[in-house]
Amino acid sequence: MSDKLNIAVIMGSTREGRLCERVTDWLMGELAALNAFRLSLIDPKDLCEPSGGLSELVMQGIRSELGAADAFIVVTPEYNHSFPAPLKQLIDSISSEWHTKPVGFVSYGGVSGGLRAVEQLRQVFVELQSASVRDSVCFINAWEQFDSNGVLREQERPRRTLLKMLDQLSWWASALKQARHEDVRHRRLSQDGMALRLACQAG
Ligand SMILES: Cc1cc2nc3c(=O)[nH]c(=O)nc-3n(C[C@H](O)[C@H](O)[C@H](O)COP(=O)(O)O)c2cc1C
Repeated sequence: MSDKLNIAVIMGSTREGRLCERVTDWLMGELAALNAFRLSLIDPKDLCEPSGGLSELVMQGIRSELGAADAFIVVTPEYNHSFPAPLKQLIDSISSEWHTKPVGFVSYGGVSGGLRAVEQLRQVFVELQSASVRDSVCFINAWEQFDSNGVLREQERPRRTLLKMLDQLSWWASALKQARHEDVRHRRLSQDGMALRLACQAG
């Protein structure tokens, strides 16, 4: 197993002129600076075909990126007290790739900072057998937090919260990666054991 955990960052908005890009750029910059993770970026905008359907080719790539991930970070805005529909479409289009992995959140919005979207996402991810971590980064009135160059005005507090969230995410990601690895070995051993028992009975 490689030392570095694989984190897939998933963008939540596909809206024209989305703030999601600024928030995600900040997150990717912080993660890259830590030099502790292998990173991939999933953008649901890449999925949409002009017909409104999902591109199967892009979907295959996303499935394999999410399958290789040890943990997820979802960057989500709040739309009408929930999270955007394209994010739900992406989540629902994939199944086992989410299982037994942790998920953290970076949210943004108006007064709630996107926390109501996060609370709903936690429920969705339980159904997908993902473990959501307690701490999350949240930008209240997010459009005021970035300057005209897209740079975050106040860096310290979000960075501190991000580190706390990454601490929890890494713990769960390592523990579950190990458990998935041992589970495969255990199942293989059980199957070998079964084959042996069957051979003994036949003999
Ligand atoms: C359709 C829509 C609904 C929204 N509903 C909420 C809301 O319920 N609560 C909130 O705090 N902000 C709400 N907002 C503000 C967004 O969270 C904010 O504009 C954010 O930047 C949107 O993300 P995006 O620019 O990446 O698409 C809403 C924005 C839109 C477009």
